[in-house]
Amino acid sequence: MSFQENARIDSVRDKRIVIIGASYGIGLATAELLSRSGAELILANRNVEKLQEIAKDLPVKTSAYRLDITVEEEVKTFFETIGGFDHLVVPAAGAALGTLAESPTETTRALVDSKFWGQYFAVKYGTRHIAKDGSITLFSGTVTQKPISGLSAYAAVGSAIEAAARVWALEYAPIRINTVVPGIINTPLWEGLVGKEGAAAQLEQTASLLPVGRVGTPVDVAKTVTFLIDNGFVNGATVVVDGGHRLV
Ligand SMILES: NC(=O)c1ccc[n+]([C@@H]2O[C@H](COP(=O)([O-])OP(=O)(O)OC[C@H]3O[C@@H](n4cnc5c(N)ncnc54)[C@H](OP(=O)(O)O)[C@@H]3O)[C@@H](O)[C@H]2O)c1
Repeated sequence: MSFQENARIDSVRDKRIVIIGASYGIGLATAELLSRSGAELILANRNVEKLQEIAKDLPVKTSAYRLDITVEEEVKTFFETIGGFDHLVVPAAGAALGTLAESPTETTRALVDSKFWGQYFAVKYGTRHIAKDGSITLFSGTVTQKPISGLSAYAAVGSAIEAAARVWALEYAPIRINTVVPGIINTPLWEGLVGKEGAAAQLEQTASLLPVGRVGTPVDVAKTVTFLIDNGFVNGATVVVDGGHRLV
C-alpha cells in the first residue's frame, strides 16, 4: 500500500460524497479510498444489493441506492432524495467494443446513453444540490488522446464529456468540474467486453506496450479522483492517468 492510500485527506472528513457506479472497478476503489479519510458515502448504481454488501465492509456511514443513470427522471429523483452533498464522482458507464463496420448501432447508442447522457443528467440534477465549494469528477478515456481501433464510440463520448465539462465548469462556477482520462485499467469492464481469457490477453498485450510496463489498477485512478476532490484550485482540467499509453 502506497503513501497516498494510507494518507488521511482532511478536506473530505465528514463530507458527503456521491459516487454513481461504485459496485466495481474505479468507483469501488474510489469509495474504499475515500472511506479511509472519514467521508460519508452515498453510492448508487443498478445493482443495489452489491452496494449494500460493500456498505457493510466500509468503515464510514454509507448508503446505497438503486439508480439507472440512463433514466433522466430517476437521476432527478435520486438527487432530490439524497439532499445536499459536497462532491460527486461519476464512473458509471456501459461498455462497447468494435469497429464501426462491425458494431451494431445499438451498442454505440447504449454507450452514449450511459456514458454521455448519464454524466449529463448527473451534472444537470446533481448541481442543484451540491455545495458551492464542492466538485464533480467525470470520466472519459485515453482513446480521446490516442486513436485505438475498435474504440470510436468511447472516443466520441469521451471527447464530448471533456469538452462539455470545461464549459460546465464555467456555467456552474464556483463548483469545480474536472474529467479523469483513464488508460487501460484492470477492472471487470474488460471481462464483460471480451471474456476472461480475452481480457487477460488484452491486458497483458497492452502492458507490454506501455512505458510503465503494466496496465493500471483501479486504485491508480482512485488516487487521481481523491486529488481532484482535495485540490480546490484544479478546475476544468482533463487529467490523463494512462501509464504513458498516449505516447506510444
Ligand atoms: N477500465 C478501463 O480500462 C477504462 C478505460 C478508459 C475509461 N474507463 C472509464 O472509467 C469509468 C469506470 O470504468 P470501470 O472500468 O471502473 O467500469 P466497470 O468496472 O465496468 O464499472 C462500471 C460501474 O458503472 C455502473 N453502471 C453501469 N451502467 C450503469 C447505469 N446504467 N446506471 C448506473 N450505473 C451503471 C456499474 O454498476 P451496475 O452495473 O450495477 O449499474 C458499475 O458500478 C467508465 O466511465 C469507463 O468508461 C475505463
